[in-house]
Amino acid sequence: MKKYFLTTPIYYVNAAPHIGHTYTTIAADAIKRLKRIQGYDVTLVTGTDEHGQKIERAAAAANKSPQAFTDVVSAEFRKQWEDLGLQIDAFQRTTAPNHAKVVQEFFATCLKNGYVYKNAYTGQYCVSCELYVTDAKPGDNCPDCGRPTETVTEENFYFKLSAFQDQLLELHEKNPEFLQPESKRNEVLAFIRQGLKDISISRTTIKWGIPVPNEAPHVFYVWFDALNTYRSAVDAATWPADLHLIGKEIVRFHAIFWPAFLWAAGLPLPKKIFAHGWLLFENDKMSKSKGNIVRATPIKNVIGADALRYFLLREIPFGSDGSFSYDALIGRYNSDLANGLGNLCSRTLALIQQNCDSRIPQSSGDPEIAAAAALAVDSALDSYEQLNFSKALETIWGFIGTLDKFIVERAPWKLAKSGETAKLHETLYTAAEAVRLITELVSPVIPESAAKIWAQLGFETSLDSVRTDDLTWGKLPVGQTIQNLAGVFPRADLKLMTEEMKQGEAAELARQKELLGQTAAPAEAAAPAAPPAPAMAEGVSPIAPEITIDDFIKVDLRVGLVKTAEKVKGADKLLHLSIDIGEPEPRSIVAGIALAYQPEQLVNRKVVIVANLAPRKLRGLTSQGMIVAASLEGGSPALAAFIEEVPVGARLK
Ligand code: ME8
Ligand code: MG
Repeated sequence: MKKYFLTTPIYYVNAAPHIGHTYTTIAADAIKRLKRIQGYDVTLVTGTDEHGQKIERAAAAANKSPQAFTDVVSAEFRKQWEDLGLQIDAFQRTTAPNHAKVVQEFFATCLKNGYVYKNAYTGQYCVSCELYVTDAKPGDNCPDCGRPTETVTEENFYFKLSAFQDQLLELHEKNPEFLQPESKRNEVLAFIRQGLKDISISRTTIKWGIPVPNEAPHVFYVWFDALNTYRSAVDAATWPADLHLIGKEIVRFHAIFWPAFLWAAGLPLPKKIFAHGWLLFENDKMSKSKGNIVRATPIKNVIGADALRYFLLREIPFGSDGSFSYDALIGRYNSDLANGLGNLCSRTLALIQQNCDSRIPQSSGDPEIAAAAALAVDSALDSYEQLNFSKALETIWGFIGTLDKFIVERAPWKLAKSGETAKLHETLYTAAEAVRLITELVSPVIPESAAKIWAQLGFETSLDSVRTDDLTWGKLPVGQTIQNLAGVFPRADLKLMTEEMKQGEAAELARQKELLGQTAAPAEAAAPAAPPAPAMAEGVSPIAPEITIDDFIKVDLRVGLVKTAEKVKGADKLLHLSIDIGEPEPRSIVAGIALAYQPEQLVNRKVVIVANLAPRKLRGLTSQGMIVAASLEGGSPALAAFIEEVPVGARLK
């Protein structure tokens, strides 16, 4: 039997899962079901990434040992996937004993092959991204996540990434299919062309990791450890993976580090990497550390796992960013599932019940609809193959529309009255056969609902046994008895259900906090103790410690006029602006406002600039100042502005 092996990322256990993780894992589950239809024996691997400083700190903040903490959080991930009915074949933890052995052997091979050496290094480290930030100075923030970096000096084992520069370039140049979507491939190519530096793959500053054999106190760098989970989760013979499904922020690790590691160890590369976009909530990337998250279980409990699956895969083109909102979720559910597919099924089955004694009538169906079905099947399978879920679903729902029209035009209720039995039977066979095909086509995305429709159509076999051959017209057995009707998608009341989901979300948050022993904000955000501050309105940050007028006057705030603005390549949050503050040359300023403002909105707009801030480098660009903005919930910025006319260069004091 043909084999197909796919993976999700191995998720960090610094906090419990949210629907960002669910998004990837659901997509992986849908792909697994699709590949099974195509006749593959599919292995789906997921797991938890449990070592490293980020986790060590989260555990400390929860007052637990790293092992006790990761046991609890890892179990939450496992339970989440079970609860959603995902068909996971292996759930691997980086703390599993067999995993440590795989990593240690992998290291030994890279060492033996001459790709590892020992060296001392001082640099700025971002704990949140678990990455050294090249070119950063003490005090700089991480260009990726914006959090402060820390100065770290270590003697480490280094991996000769630089040795693979040409090979990596060739890999991505010659195999456009290897990394998708195309935009990510271009980013990776540009990154490689900048020149690759060797990377450290061990740490001595932390204890919570897999030991480098005979080299205490060295433990392996988390990514060297975690990427190997894809191998340790399965038999050696199952490697390589056919597909690594990941979010776009970890492309570099998968498309540059991982191939180089594998080459160094003499192992084959994965066949393909697909990076999907971010799920945004309240205008920002949904993230454990920011806390702007929504969990899957309350949604499932109120509106069903399939509603969430359908929403995520239909609403957001796979590869692009997209927003979650309760309104959009319920809107999609009502329009597409309750009114669209749900109506078609119940109408079709009710007509067969009333007019054909609950048996599929004798007919080969309407040839035009049969032809439209064949086109829809081909086109949907094609889009699925490209992981273009939204397009596949759009095609299927287009076909649902065609059928609705067909049924209305044929008006079977009239045919029944006028005794045109042959035409009536043809109409109802056509509708039922189309429902069968649609059910098979949507089953990867909404498996639970599809199984219900399948049973109502009178099938006793499992929907999981459907194969590509079945996706042809005329396979619905004439005479098969349909089952009693039961609504698969009851209509959802927007207000009521939103309320219930929000209540469920609050309860789930409280449960997880209790479970993790966390009383404060997420561990990563933990800041040094601040002096007591007066109580502020909810969501407003406390007032900073008192300063004198002399302190304040040191800050030189100026009115500036934005001359040009453009996005910074490879940094979703950053804009590069040139701003006139009355000096001979405009200032070059890099600001983290790209999620809130389009560049063209800003040109010719007056803004407030901190003009005497020490310049700093971000993504290779010099930033000579800072734009003043209100920081809204979720960190979203709103630029300060004037109501009156103000001249460029005027000082604020
Ligand atoms: O990066 N939108 O783990 P992680 C879309 N341990 N996808 C999201 C998301 C969002 N808002 N939030 C999370 C790590 N994800 C490493 C991986 S692999 C060897 C090691 C999904 O817990 C998405 O798949 O930060 C993203 O890449 C992943 O969770 C990151 O999970
Ligand atoms: Mg992350």
